[in-house]
Amino acid sequence: DWNMPDYIAEAVEMIRQQVGSDEVILGLSGGVDSSVAAALIHRAIGDQLTCVFVDHGLLRLDEGKMVMEMFAKNLGVKVIHVDATAQFMGHLAGVTDPEAKRKIIGREFVEVFQAESAKLTSAKWLAQGTIYPDVIESAGKGKKTAHTIKSHHNVGGLPETLNLKLLEPLRELFKDEVRELGVALGLPPEMVYRHPFPGPGLGVRILGEVKKEYADLLRRADAIFIEELRNTKDQDGQTWYEKTSQAFAVFLPVKSVGVMGDGRTYEYVVALRAVQTQDFMTAHWAHLPHELLGRVSNRIINEVRGLNRVVYDISGKPPATIEWE
Ligand code: XMP
Repeated sequence: DWNMPDYIAEAVEMIRQQVGSDEVILGLSGGVDSSVAAALIHRAIGDQLTCVFVDHGLLRLDEGKMVMEMFAKNLGVKVIHVDATAQFMGHLAGVTDPEAKRKIIGREFVEVFQAESAKLTSAKWLAQGTIYPDVIESAGKGKKTAHTIKSHHNVGGLPETLNLKLLEPLRELFKDEVRELGVALGLPPEMVYRHPFPGPGLGVRILGEVKKEYADLLRRADAIFIEELRNTKDQDGQTWYEKTSQAFAVFLPVKSVGVMGDGRTYEYVVALRAVQTQDFMTAHWAHLPHELLGRVSNRIINEVRGLNRVVYDISGKPPATIEWE
């Protein structure tokens, strides 16, 4: 019951009044919120916006390419693509504790982003894709909820040291409104309706120590799983990607024995996780059809050399969390 063209016109006008002729920086993560914020701000002020996209080497397959295509190529947004894989992998080497990994990834992220932003000396504003639920969540900080059992690093922390003013044009919107806005601004619906992806990325889906070799294997397994979920419909006509709230592969750094041709293999295991949930505080494991699971398993084992076993996670939240770390 909101009129989208009117809303966009108003939002654009507000952004223009707020920033005038100033320059704005925005950290693009590839997620829905920062993407929609970028598209909206670009609509308002065009080239006064510069996006910084930090690739920590823990993104999904072809994510960097997708972000650059969507923004730089299709929308004409100025995007600086920083490949910081080596830096992140260096700092994560030898670290196995999940919270320590999260802290390192969060800290490095801020550092790389700040270093890039510092080069854009004329910028006066820092734009963020903060949405209404983030505002409420930060206001309630300190309360121990199921949500704060794991530290999230998406909100806050950045502007203080950069000495920039904050521009948060999505602050009053709920997630479904942000998605609608994104589509109206010309972002591809497959992108806007994607499952959530954690800030630390594959860093919390590679159990224990993170290595580039593991991330490369996991990315390929995960892409196969997601592709099959998107291509398989249930009786009701919905795809299994649509029927699940979040789905992904998890890398287990243990080797098990297999056979291939007349040879013996000794390779790593991946677990598939797919859940259905309203609020991500509690979740059920998804009853995916066995044929679908079988196809995903066959494809992963045949197509990804280095993986020879696939298992399916049938744990609910609670007591398990959605992510494995
Ligand atoms: P859990 O694993 O706690 O996850 O059941 C609940 C939801 O939160 C996401 N998640 C994170 N998101 N940074 C994020 O931005 C994080 O550190 C993080 N840890 C979990 C998870 O993907 C799920 O949607």
